[in-house]
Amino acid sequence: MRPLRLGILGSGKGSNFLALARAIQAGVVPAEVVCVASDQSQAGILELARGMGLRIFVCRSGSFQTKLEPEIEEELAEELSRAGAELVVLAGYMRVVKAPLLRSFGGRIINIHPSLLPAFPGLKAWEQALRAGVKETGCTVHWVNEVVDGGSTIRQLKMPVQPGDTAESLHARIQTAEHRLLPEVVRDLASGKIAWERDPRRI
Ligand code: GAR
Repeated sequence: MRPLRLGILGSGKGSNFLALARAIQAGVVPAEVVCVASDQSQAGILELARGMGLRIFVCRSGSFQTKLEPEIEEELAEELSRAGAELVVLAGYMRVVKAPLLRSFGGRIINIHPSLLPAFPGLKAWEQALRAGVKETGCTVHWVNEVVDGGSTIRQLKMPVQPGDTAESLHARIQTAEHRLLPEVVRDLASGKIAWERDPRRI
């Protein structure tokens, strides 16, 4: 089977992207990264992608923090299409996905989120979990739709919140789990073990 072509979108340091790239390189995930895009020109994820010699794309920043203007998101969608992305992976992408991306890639976008959704959608989910005093949290990979962190769950990993956990220690533990979960989900989508909302190989 030919490798699944991935477009990656991230705003931050890119540790989830790195875990995925390493799993691909190790031959564990039958995929290839065709484009790494970011809305933050200084993001660590771009530095990592450059170091790997991958195609990168930086969005114009626009005038909102939480979303891209439609014409900017359209440029992003066009770039991902030109690169041949079949699955779009949100790996720490911190803006809301709107119509332009959903029109082109609806049913083919996944997101990794640092909580057990539907609990704690939105920003800094690990801090929300600590404040709420829950005994258990984790991470979720889900399909992306127009509702923020609201698409259907694909798979989750759970872990206990430990006495004495700080926001930092809890997020670090969640991230270790994320680095396992995201490559596993991409592997299972690539092999057909997980059902797609909209399979690119059937479009
Ligand atoms: C990850 O913990 C990811 O779950 C979170 O941002 C971090 C990115 O880290 N995403 C969200 O909160 C999205 N709602 P990374 O840049 O090291 O992969």
